[in-house]
Amino acid sequence: MPDAVTAPAAPPAAIHRADYRPPEWLVPDVELDFDLAAERTRVGARLTVQRNGDHDAPLRLDGEGLKLIEVKVDGKPAEHLHAQDALTIPIVGDEAVVETLVEIAPGANTQLMGLYESGGILCTQCEAEGFRRITFFPDRPDVLSRYRVRMHADKILYPILLANGDPVAHGDEEGGRHWAEWTDPFPKPCYLFALVAGDLVANQDSFITRSGRTVALGIWVREGDIGKTGHAMESLKAAMAWDERVYGREYDLAMFNIVAVADFNFGAMENKGLNIFNSRYVLADPDTATDADYDAVAGVVAHEYFHNWSGNRVTCRDWFQLSLKEGFTVFRDQQFSADLGSAAVKRIDDVRALRAAQFPEDAGPLAHPVRPDSYIEISNFYTATVYNKGAELIRMMHSLLGAEKFRAGTDLYFDRHDGTAATCEDFAKALEDASGIDLARFRRWYSQAGTPRVRASLTHHAGEGRARLVLEQTVPATPGQPRKAPVPIPLKIALFDELTGQKYTDRLVLLEEKRQDLLFEGIGGRPILSINRDFSAPVIIETDRKVDDLAFLSARDDNPFARYEAMQQLMLETLVTAVSTGSADHKPVIEAIRQTLTNPAMDPAFIAESVLLPTEAFVGDHMLVVDPDAIHAAREKLRSDIGDELESQWRAAYASSSANRFEYSPAAKGARRLRTVALGYLMAADAEGAPAMALMQFENADNMTDRQGALGNLVNSDTTERQTALGAFYERYQENPLVLDKWFTVQALSMREDTVDKVAALARHPDFLLANPNRVRSLVGAFTANQRAFHHRSGRGYRFLGDMILTIDPLNPQTAARLIPALGRWRRFDETRGQMMKAELERIIATPNLSRDAFEQATKSLG
Ligand code: TRP
Ligand code: ZN
Repeated sequence: MPDAVTAPAAPPAAIHRADYRPPEWLVPDVELDFDLAAERTRVGARLTVQRNGDHDAPLRLDGEGLKLIEVKVDGKPAEHLHAQDALTIPIVGDEAVVETLVEIAPGANTQLMGLYESGGILCTQCEAEGFRRITFFPDRPDVLSRYRVRMHADKILYPILLANGDPVAHGDEEGGRHWAEWTDPFPKPCYLFALVAGDLVANQDSFITRSGRTVALGIWVREGDIGKTGHAMESLKAAMAWDERVYGREYDLAMFNIVAVADFNFGAMENKGLNIFNSRYVLADPDTATDADYDAVAGVVAHEYFHNWSGNRVTCRDWFQLSLKEGFTVFRDQQFSADLGSAAVKRIDDVRALRAAQFPEDAGPLAHPVRPDSYIEISNFYTATVYNKGAELIRMMHSLLGAEKFRAGTDLYFDRHDGTAATCEDFAKALEDASGIDLARFRRWYSQAGTPRVRASLTHHAGEGRARLVLEQTVPATPGQPRKAPVPIPLKIALFDELTGQKYTDRLVLLEEKRQDLLFEGIGGRPILSINRDFSAPVIIETDRKVDDLAFLSARDDNPFARYEAMQQLMLETLVTAVSTGSADHKPVIEAIRQTLTNPAMDPAFIAESVLLPTEAFVGDHMLVVDPDAIHAAREKLRSDIGDELESQWRAAYASSSANRFEYSPAAKGARRLRTVALGYLMAADAEGAPAMALMQFENADNMTDRQGALGNLVNSDTTERQTALGAFYERYQENPLVLDKWFTVQALSMREDTVDKVAALARHPDFLLANPNRVRSLVGAFTANQRAFHHRSGRGYRFLGDMILTIDPLNPQTAARLIPALGRWRRFDETRGQMMKAELERIIATPNLSRDAFEQATKSLG
């Protein structure tokens, strides 16, 4: 039998949600036998297959890049056709045992999908369609199987052998080899399959579930990293307890393992009982991880753990339903982190991420609904829309139902669909059935792309003691969706008396129609509108509130998120005015910051977040045509005025928040955050001695937050301290890949004029490794987020990105494709920049042998 025949290069075809058909064959049981080695691994598979429904179609198995050695049906060599990434086997009768033997080369797998090698460890990544790169199988999430897995490997190179479920037996073999067998009693789709073989050590612990079962926990890392696993372990135990308490979900196996690997396409993966993580979301100690890293570790550990129910016990029918598990699980991890730390700061972070990544996606050529209708390559749909907007949809349903009914709804959902593959519709239906609340219209949120805009105008009739609020919504046209219906928008609204600050009303309003009028009685004094408090809906609010009203809210609103939001709005309006007219009055912003900084009742962590200016990219999102240089100049001018006018306050904040010894507590984190923010304003104002303060902070720091905070400020400057700190940081951490990533990132984010050329030079640095996705993102990904540098008028930034995409695509298409959307924003810029960006997209599309991933993103971005 010849190797897989590749088809002539036709444009890759799209897959449509409407074409879903149940599987023709089921595979209730799978036995896998791995003869593991990096250069060559043999995979034997024994599948029990069952005809599903009344048809006479042959068995069709997916397989990609597999060297087929043997096919048997019911023990005998069998007729088969191997072509175009599929193995077709005619089968008489309704049941059979199908055996295949294939060969793969994990050491040569640079895509990091399927079985691959990372730093001497053999590991797998199967979501979404990686299992077909390991063995022939119906690689779709609605085929659920029980797995028994046997692994054989060299005992010195791979002393630890792990797979899903629980271990059943192990032993030695001749030639210095050994074997281990694992079984997973829970039927699962093949995307949740995992194995790991490597020289690993574990941080071992245990958790007693609420029904009294003991679960053995292991976090597996390379020997030198064991001291950095404590935080991940504490986070895991906290997540297990939280899911029992808040969702009534208990863990179901006797063992739960996490493995950290250095080369990984994403954050982490929820394989049943054997999560595999990008090491950056496992390893943390004060010397190498920032507070934000600690938070991310806790969030991702919880996220993957929560998938055990929202994703694994109840999985997705097809990949169009991805948000069923991802949106819900992101919402769950957000709730967890909010409960653990400061809920207000967590909400600010989440909204910031949504606005930075999802709003632009929803406003551009790659806009798609939370439940997409079609895709060419599913890996391109692990997006901010599916994850983060998906989470906002769940959050809105949580607000509409209230916590209690929402919990009844999720209980019903888990109960009804346990052990099956479900749809977003099933989730909505379960919430409806349990609560009695109609979500018919709400479902539009799943099918319509685009960020809704809500225009709110408040008028006051002092004589009648009455206020009238008119709300109007529009959902913008997006590719393939020219016309939209109104969506139900839950808006938390309050009115405050301008003079007394007294709150007139505070309630949840549901805007369901295109336009709605609301009347408020008993409003004597002029009311000030606080709207979309807590960011109750993922929409853009337009109001005609005046500067004084925003200043009032930033100081006196009792909802912390709304306070932050009012301050942001004030800053944004100031910057947009400055950019479009050439100047703006900075006083209101400076006074609002002064109020916040000197308010003793406010938490330093919250202060630090609310006194930060919106990013240059965020300002750009609010302009018809983005002018990166004007935005940069206006923002720097405002930053330096704020630093200058409030110099003594910043110095005081810096001094008072100088923490003593490192401690990972909300108060200590808040103090560190405020300290670096204060330093940033002093640096921006060129305050006397600021670079020396920064270098002192850098050198004396006993933790990475302070050290990176100082470096991130120095790197914008033109000082000798900058060089000193960058050099010292490299010397100290060059052997630590995760910290070296930070060294690349701070330079890619530098505000200096020469950043575009510095970044191109860093891409030739011996430590810049194209094969490692973290390293690529640390330099190239960070650079594309630096609006001024990436959009350098010369076009050198675009050219650099185009070169990087084309160099990475043959190695790792997923990583290459994720860099493309930055070029897709070409319509937002002036003609010259826009043409240069388009030219890069065209150059990418014209490249022979482009991956499906890059093809889809580049052609759609060209729009
Ligand atoms: N399901 C993973 C999550 O928790 C996502 C994921 C991990 C992934 N690895 C991947 C997605 C590789 C695409 C490709 O969110
Ligand atoms: Zn997930």
